[in-house]
Formats: sequence, structure tokens, C-alpha cells
Amino acid sequence: MAGLTHPNLIILSGAGLSAESGVATFREADGLWEGHRIEDVATPEAFRRDPALVQQFYNLRRAQLKNVQANAAHHALVELEKNWPGSFWHITQNVDDLNERAGAKKLLHMHGELRKVRCTWCKSVLAWSDDLQTDTDCPECDHRGTLRPDIVWFGEMPYYIDEIMRALETVDIFLCIGTSGVVYPAAGFVRLAAEKGCARLIEVNLQPTGISGQFTEQRQGLAGIEVPKLVAELLQPYNA
Ligand code: APR
Repeated sequence: MAGLTHPNLIILSGAGLSAESGVATFREADGLWEGHRIEDVATPEAFRRDPALVQQFYNLRRAQLKNVQANAAHHALVELEKNWPGSFWHITQNVDDLNERAGAKKLLHMHGELRKVRCTWCKSVLAWSDDLQTDTDCPECDHRGTLRPDIVWFGEMPYYIDEIMRALETVDIFLCIGTSGVVYPAAGFVRLAAEKGCARLIEVNLQPTGISGQFTEQRQGLAGIEVPKLVAELLQPYNA
């Protein structure tokens, strides 16, 4: 195959990817995230106002990870990562670790990770699977009460933006799975990909979204069904 260039692939995933694993999506019909308004638990202001509430909220989310498992869509994406001949990046807005548990390696958590905490004093980022309290000591600098969830809240800068922008420069296939397309900058990646000449823009979602019109292909249905089908199609030319 020397001399042939293979298509570069970017996946952007959102809460719909983990929904069938039992992880709640953000924008349910009642507009609440597990009973809370997003601005009460996912902003730096909320954390300043009521750190105990915010810590407890993320403690529950972190604890929930012990009771959920990767689903067919996570596994199919790892199959794609392992067998894709071109460059591959999976950018996820999800803060769960289900992609990693399925075996993902080329994964960028642009909104942070539930199983990490960050010290606002010494800036250390630490793996963390237990509860975090408002008076927990930072194991690195010994300051008390300086640890926070390593989650990108509204108003904060998402992670890996430089890497993502570089990857978007040369993307050939952009695949967007289970995101409502209302939170920027992620919601703007499909337009950027199109502007860079990406010809194949595929959206997988249960329903049309506000950005559906920007895609060249739609797969409507459950990620756990549609993603494995799509992965088989994408890999088919390389299976010969
Ligand atoms: N299969 C496919 N799509 C699904 C499924 C499923 N099983 N279940 C839900 N969806 C779709 C919904 O139709 C919706 O469009 O997934 C999308 C989930 O949207 P949101 O709940 O808004 O989640 P997301 O787009 O990931 O949110 C983006 O917002 O609150 C912030 O930082 C948070 O990363 C999050 C960001």
C-alpha cells in the first residue's frame, strides 16, 4: 500500500454515546442534569458559591461510574481505532471513562475527566476514584480544600484545543456521535471540518439536532446499534 494516503478520521462524541450504558445525558426533557440546573453545578461561580453541593454532585457522578460499563458503541469505536489506516482521533465531551475501559488510546477528553481531580493551588492533576470533600488535603502540596473535579465547566477553556484544531486541518471523515450540538466550541467543529475541505461529515443521533443540516450523512438511531454498523462499513474497504 506504499504511496497511498489513507483518510484521516475524527470522531466527536457526546453524552448520547454513553446513554445506553446508563450515564444520564445533559439535556433531558425536564432541562435538568440529574435533578440540577447546569449553572448550579457546572460553573466556576457555582463552585465558589456552594463548593459542597458541587463536590457532592461530582462525587455521585464519579461513584456511578462503578456501576456502568462500556456499550457496543464504545467497543466498536475501539475496533475502528485499532484498524483505521489513516490518522485517528476521538475527541470526547464525555467525562466518563467508558472509552478507555473499552480500550481507547487516541482519545482527547476536551471537557475533562470525572476520575481526575486538580489542585487549584499547585496545579497538580491526580487520578481520583473516591469522594472529594471541601476539606480534602492535596496529596502533592498538602493544601487543604484546594482540590476540585478536573472538569471543564461553562466559562472555562476546553482542553486540547490546539491539538484538535491541528487535526481538523486535515480531516477527511468527521463523525459526530450523540451530541446535541449546542455547546461550543465542540458544536462548531463540523463547520470547521467542512471549511477545511472534509467531504464526509456523518452524524449519528437519536434525533435531528440544531447542527444536523451541516452534515452530509445522517444515521438516526441508537448509538449502540448505528455505530457498530457504521464502523463495519468504514472498515470494509480495508478488510479485503
Ligand atoms: N444514541 C444516540 N444518540 C443519543 C442517544 C443514544 N442512545 N441518547 C441520547 N442521544 C442524543 C440526544 O438526542 C442528544 O442530541 O445525544 C445527545 C445528548 O445531548 P446532550 O445531553 O446535550 O449532551 P452533549 O451534547 O454531550 O453535551 C455537551 O454540554 O453540559 C455540557 O459539558 C457538558 O459535555 C457536555 C456538553
